[in-house]
Amino acid sequence: MNNSLLKPLKIGNYIIPIPVVQGGMGVGVSLSGLAGAVAACGGIGIISTAQIGFRDKGFDADPIGCNLRAIKEEIGKARAIAERQQYEVARIKAMGGDNNKPAGMKEMGENGNKPAGLIGVNIMVATKKYEEYVKAAVEAGADMIISGAGLPMMLPGLVEKAKTMIAPIVSSLKSVHVITKYWLKKYDRLPDMVVIEGPLAGGHLGFQAEQLENIEAMHYDEEIHKIIEYVNECGEVHGKKIPVAVAGGIYSREDGEKYFAMGASGVQIATRFVTTYECDASDAYKEAYIRAKKEDIVIVKSPVGMPGRAVGNSFVKRTMKGRIPHKGCHSCIVSCRPDQTPYCITEALINAVEGNVEQGLVFCGANAYRAEKLEHVADIMKEFAP
Ligand SMILES: Cc1cc2nc3c(=O)[nH]c(=O)nc-3n(C[C@H](O)[C@H](O)[C@H](O)COP(=O)(O)O)c2cc1C
Repeated sequence: MNNSLLKPLKIGNYIIPIPVVQGGMGVGVSLSGLAGAVAACGGIGIISTAQIGFRDKGFDADPIGCNLRAIKEEIGKARAIAERQQYEVARIKAMGGDNNKPAGMKEMGENGNKPAGLIGVNIMVATKKYEEYVKAAVEAGADMIISGAGLPMMLPGLVEKAKTMIAPIVSSLKSVHVITKYWLKKYDRLPDMVVIEGPLAGGHLGFQAEQLENIEAMHYDEEIHKIIEYVNECGEVHGKKIPVAVAGGIYSREDGEKYFAMGASGVQIATRFVTTYECDASDAYKEAYIRAKKEDIVIVKSPVGMPGRAVGNSFVKRTMKGRIPHKGCHSCIVSCRPDQTPYCITEALINAVEGNVEQGLVFCGANAYRAEKLEHVADIMKEFAP
């Protein structure tokens, strides 16, 4: 009998062997390389659609067109990576070699050549032309859309009857209330999963900057408890089991076990996956994590209008001294006013992911300082195996 607190994640008609959702990371940090590897190992790999087409030559002239094309390309590439990695393990085994099979990976034939996990996308509600991104992801056959940085009120109407599952990211009981009530009334639909993102997460945070000054005083575990309870009740009333994944500050299995004991069915992990060989960011980005000490990780103001967490490098220091001039507008976020923005977040995030880290914004979770070396996705996934 398996007494582990961690169990395979049941979601929709799927059973995901390892209950890990890899958090979407823009710009360009979680693309097909990382998401494909996570899916191959039996988790849910998530591609961030934030300025996903930034490497396209035509990006400056038509960012949205490039992004919509890239959504399709990256989902296709992630699937191919996941299938190829599955295949490689089976081939090595057939040749009598060392079968270093990641824990969640099934044998060839057991699951066709399909990866054991799923491939999804993260689309921020604050994205300009959000609807078009959602439709592109659905057309490309994304298994799941995870959506936060705002309340994804219209999401069910955009995916309609497609098989793509939908999961809102919430940071408070109030927001999950608002979303579920509206979805039920307007679309007769409930989320397929709920992600609770707490104050230790990376990137943009759904909290006030003042709250983040004293995270312990927030007693956030109580909020998590209430959200899990509410989601369970809501599911029961409507005959649906809605899994909840907790995100923010989960680095080790031990960190995750606490939330499984509280009733979570999964964990969403981002920061730990940045320092993997498979992560799509530049080596310099990964090194910035490995070098960072606890006190180097700071809360920054973002043009998105929400606080964010990042490595406090020279770029962050420059933002404190005044506006940083930028080139044209890259049409990323609804709330941005290009003539007033303190800096261009697209330029800052692209600089960082491409390796110009001191001129860029290196988003990270509160635990980024725990990274000591690069590791393989498969080893992280083994750590979280039920
Ligand atoms: C580098 C980085 C970029 C991120 N970008 C996004 C994003 O574009 N959209 C989003 O919803 N969340 C984003 N996040 C949040 C993650 O998806 C995840 O929920 C959170 O960071 C989990 O906490 P952890 O990093 O402590 O594991 C980002 C996080 C990091 C570290």
